[in-house]
Amino acid sequence: MTVKDNINFALSLLSMELQAEPCQPVLYMAPLQGYTDAAYREAFQRCFGTVEACFAPYISLGKQMKVEGLDDLLVPKPYQQTLIPQLLASSLPELSVLLNAIAVHGYQEVNMNMGCPYPMVTGKGRGAALIRKPELVKQMIEFAVHELDMKFSIKVRSGMESNEEIFSLLDKLPLDKLNAVILHPRTARQLYRGIADTALAVRCVKAYPHVRWVYNGDVFCFNDYVQKQELLPEVKHWMLGRGLLENPFLPGLILQQHDGLPPGWEQQLVRFMDTLLDCLIRDSHDEWHALNRGRIQLTYLLNGFQEFKKERKQVVKSRSINDLRNAISNIARSTST
Ligand SMILES: Cc1cc2nc3c(=O)[nH]c(=O)nc-3n(C[C@H](O)[C@H](O)[C@H](O)COP(=O)(O)O)c2cc1C
Repeated sequence: MTVKDNINFALSLLSMELQAEPCQPVLYMAPLQGYTDAAYREAFQRCFGTVEACFAPYISLGKQMKVEGLDDLLVPKPYQQTLIPQLLASSLPELSVLLNAIAVHGYQEVNMNMGCPYPMVTGKGRGAALIRKPELVKQMIEFAVHELDMKFSIKVRSGMESNEEIFSLLDKLPLDKLNAVILHPRTARQLYRGIADTALAVRCVKAYPHVRWVYNGDVFCFNDYVQKQELLPEVKHWMLGRGLLENPFLPGLILQQHDGLPPGWEQQLVRFMDTLLDCLIRDSHDEWHALNRGRIQLTYLLNGFQEFKKERKQVVKSRSINDLRNAISNIARSTST
């Protein structure tokens, strides 16, 4: 064997090793308005800590250009460091107000929502409506990156009506200025119905290989991740929404390449629910507010655990924080025997 042959042999071994060992994915918590609020994110990071960062549900402008939703971003330093704010804007002036409101609080990265499908939002030219305005989006990206020197990413659906719309958008954007493109491959018309079109995501990744893609959509269990990852081997960044809410162990399972729940999961789940309730009580105006939020979040969580059907019903019927605590205690008791 010549020296050259030796080098080639070593390189081919290295390449086989790299192919056999898929690189560790980077996981993000998706923003879900009404669910992944500051209390939820803090409880999740304290109890699991398995996502690199959380994307916050969007802030937007209400009447008289008042910024709505900003309170959710005013979190202690450790949680700020793993939080990426999101905004919903329809024009450069709206974008400017929202970017400034975010920058004042020390954030250096921001995401723009181009996916919200609801007519109340798209009717105002916001969310998914931007997919059909590439020229405006181009100006928005340039404004955010140059004027405010912030890292900027977009979270986008595949189209308003048709999947093909994404291509006429991306063709016209300065993609090299974006920190990432988070793709949820459903059209706005679909809302959350049907399935996320992974084949479309494959086409996007192949058509724009230099983009830092974040795939988002329908990863509900470890096998969903494995199947999608096989189709999207180039994608390193994954965003988890409903799957994480129903099973907060999911990011950990993906990181450890492991199916099934980890040992001691019952105690971990109870600890998470207790922590979430503590954070909600601390962050709420009054007990009624905390109860309402806790009921919504815990009901969603317990959807994922059929063994706690009875306790889920208790949560749904709760009329006080004490009722919620009792439901959690019942779960703790049922799993300790
Ligand atoms: C109740 C609800 C609220 C949502 N709020 C937001 C939001 O504020 N910003 C956003 O970009 N996406 C929002 N989404 C979309 C999710 O971030 C995510 O893209 C979607 O759920 C698909 O991902 P999944 O299949 O992992 O859940 C929301 C979705 C739901 C169901």
